Amino acid sequence: TSMERVFSGIQPTGTLHLGNYFGALKKWVELQETCGSVLYSIVDLHSITLPQDPKILHRNILEVTACLLACGINPQKSILFQQSKVSQHAELAWVLGCMTTMARLGHLPQFKEKSASVKDIPLGIFVYPVLQSADILVYKATKVPVGEDQLQHLQLAQHLAKLFNSKYGKLFPHPKALINDDCTARLRSLRDPTKKMSKSEPDPKSRIDLTDSEEVILEKVKKAVTDFESAVTWDPKNRPGVSNLIAIHCGMTGKTPEEIVQDAQGLDTGKYKLVVADAINKVLQPIREETMRLLKDPPFLEQILEDGSMKASSIAEDTWESVRKLVGL
Ligand code: ADP
Ligand code: NA
Repeated sequence: TSMERVFSGIQPTGTLHLGNYFGALKKWVELQETCGSVLYSIVDLHSITLPQDPKILHRNILEVTACLLACGINPQKSILFQQSKVSQHAELAWVLGCMTTMARLGHLPQFKEKSASVKDIPLGIFVYPVLQSADILVYKATKVPVGEDQLQHLQLAQHLAKLFNSKYGKLFPHPKALINDDCTARLRSLRDPTKKMSKSEPDPKSRIDLTDSEEVILEKVKKAVTDFESAVTWDPKNRPGVSNLIAIHCGMTGKTPEEIVQDAQGLDTGKYKLVVADAINKVLQPIREETMRLLKDPPFLEQILEDGSMKASSIAEDTWESVRKLVGL
């Protein structure tokens, strides 16, 4: 009987890529049609956990906003907002942080990955999963569409919701992960197909951005690392490179890996790459053009975020008031 509410977030650390699109955005657009209460946040507080340039960060916030709108997020149907404009995210994160152990955070695989490349580990990299939990719980979200890489973090949010409810009184519903279960659930880096495609990988050739031009798409796909076998076969375990291209191709066409492999019979991987690049361009062209159009009007984008943040705040304020009462603050 309780109301379903969707929450998800995306970092403004760079241009959105195909991994974000298939791991998250496609589902986001579907959910705004089927669920009555939907919030999508540009989680700027998360993107300062690693060194950043203030001018670039603000530009990225607008770019991600434009790109989300171009992908079909409709501000009439979804509350699209900027995390740092709603102060209750950080406030609830403090309360939840007081209930989280260092051991639990230290075990999270993303912490191990991200901190491996940094000499002096900022506290933010360690505690950001707690902020993610607050992002979700401050809206009492019940459904959280995320990529597979976020599953452990969602388990932390589930744990903290339960712990809070048992310690202070029932407030938070169980936030359920909605994870894509097709072959596009975890797209891989084009440069190193053992890693996930990510905004945070330094080499821009490792990912296809949603705003890449036709020429850039072709160049990146041509340079994608495959292996020494020339046939096109689906074998994610032993042939992660070519299988990643097939997965991307599936996402673009709605076909299964088997259908794609059937169609590609007689092509070597070199020729197959041209087919994949063309399929990617067909889907990205309208998104790219709409993003570019929207980016010419920054005040319009700022206004969308301002309106969304007002709506988000009114929900977050309610939850925060309940938290204060229950905790005795
Ligand atoms: P990134 O990891 O590129 O910095 P974010 O952390 O902002 O991206 O994640 C935004 C959403 O995109 C999350 O739900 C995340 O799970 C999803 N996502 C990111 N990379 C991938 C990928 N390679 N495959 C599938 N989903 C992904
Ligand atoms: Na991520």
